[in-house]
Amino acid sequence: MKTLGPAAFLPDNDVTGIPTAEALTFLDRLVATGEDRTSYASPYGRVFFFNHPDDVRSVLQDRNFIRPPLMKSLLGDGLLTSEGALWKTQRRLLQPAFHMPCVHALLPGIHAALADFIPRWELASRTGERVEIAAAMRRLTLDIILRCLFGIRMGNELETMGAALTVVIHDLGLLTGTLLLQPHQVSPRRNTEFQEALATVNDLIHGIISHHRALPPGTGGGVNILNLLDQARSASGEPLPEKLIRDEVASMIIGGHETLANVLSWTWETLALRPDLVASLHAEVDAHTRHPLSQADLPHLPLTMGLFKEALRLFPPVWFMVRSPLEPCKLGGVDLPAGAQVMISPYTLHRHREFWPHPDVFDPARYTPEAEAARHKGAWIPFAAGRHLCLGLPLAMMEGPLILATLARRFVVEPLAEGQPPLAASPLVTLRQRNGLPARVISRTPPSPKLPD
Ligand code: HEM
Repeated sequence: MKTLGPAAFLPDNDVTGIPTAEALTFLDRLVATGEDRTSYASPYGRVFFFNHPDDVRSVLQDRNFIRPPLMKSLLGDGLLTSEGALWKTQRRLLQPAFHMPCVHALLPGIHAALADFIPRWELASRTGERVEIAAAMRRLTLDIILRCLFGIRMGNELETMGAALTVVIHDLGLLTGTLLLQPHQVSPRRNTEFQEALATVNDLIHGIISHHRALPPGTGGGVNILNLLDQARSASGEPLPEKLIRDEVASMIIGGHETLANVLSWTWETLALRPDLVASLHAEVDAHTRHPLSQADLPHLPLTMGLFKEALRLFPPVWFMVRSPLEPCKLGGVDLPAGAQVMISPYTLHRHREFWPHPDVFDPARYTPEAEAARHKGAWIPFAAGRHLCLGLPLAMMEGPLILATLARRFVVEPLAEGQPPLAASPLVTLRQRNGLPARVISRTPPSPKLPD
């Protein structure tokens, strides 16, 4: 294994204050050494970086590797951060809500949110108003997750939640980015802003919980994650602690919308650079006159699916994951001490030259059943793998393409070039776009028949 000092990779420009902004450059340079197994010194100690799909699969599947609670201040002990016995109980409790029949039952929530969303873009199309695509996608996916999982329809609070989460995700991103580059000091002013934003997120989450509990039983729709949580009992008959219920709700809301919004925004931006793909996408979605689209249409939308999967490859929202071995072990021939920090990155793995021909080319045709069967199982892991495989995968793979197809049928998204290079990323906790993708949306067809609620 090659061992490298951070100085070898630090970008030339001054990144003080925004350490994560250059994190992708850092990873690119790490990978450019041609080594799939490297290590480097970070402010938290030595980090072992693995970029071979065999190793990555081992890390994700081996129970000896656990994840450190990097996002505890936001997610507490929820399913996205927990480990061990607590994680197992939570996963067992919530998994049934994400089995296919339950996920298909969420379709009305997706349709209703889209029916509310489309008139906003129709208005923007008529007035020529500038639309922040990333924020719009976050609003839509947040609306969907709240309707689908909690049976709740929020109004302006969607914007409040979106703005507060942006601050929290930005600042947590600075701190987690320390694993890659130099330590980051959060200034007292920023720290106050962070605490206020976190308090806003918490207030909204508590509001969601109280609102749901005030609904008469059987109303509200959705799979009612909160019913599962409220009815759960420990072996000794105790209900779940309130704090844990809050943490689970936070995991579901944040894990369930931020990621999806990112992939959709990247898809719109990439499409805007590829008129050839836009034409083919329009041909595909226009051939489906059924309103509204449902999961049964997805097998007939291979390009839409390919676009979504390819955006997940090049811009995986969860662009790095950290794990630590409980016991000393060997991985890919490298000796790892107990507690070592092991970093894997879907972002670099998805661009590995050995497993992806012309890795930097956006090519939605990579996902034919034959190509997928022939590919190394560990080469495409936007949803992780092993026991922490994304719980929301079936929902994300239905919701994302349906949103894309539905909106592509009605609109063209034209990004406004504003001095920012295209595809500029902001690698925070998730892989966001750097400037939120300001754009104009243009209506393609006259408003079509009303979508059912
Ligand atoms: C494109 C969309 C999504 C992507 C790329 C994504 C990605 C991921 C990844 C990489 C993990 C593993 C994290 C780790 O172990 O460190 C994960 C876990 C998880 N995701 Fe997602 N996710 C998406 C959508 C969703 C949705 C829609 C939901 C919920 C409704 C969700 C809920 C969760 C939960 C609860 C976990 C924790 C699973 C566990 O540890 O057992 N995700 N997701």
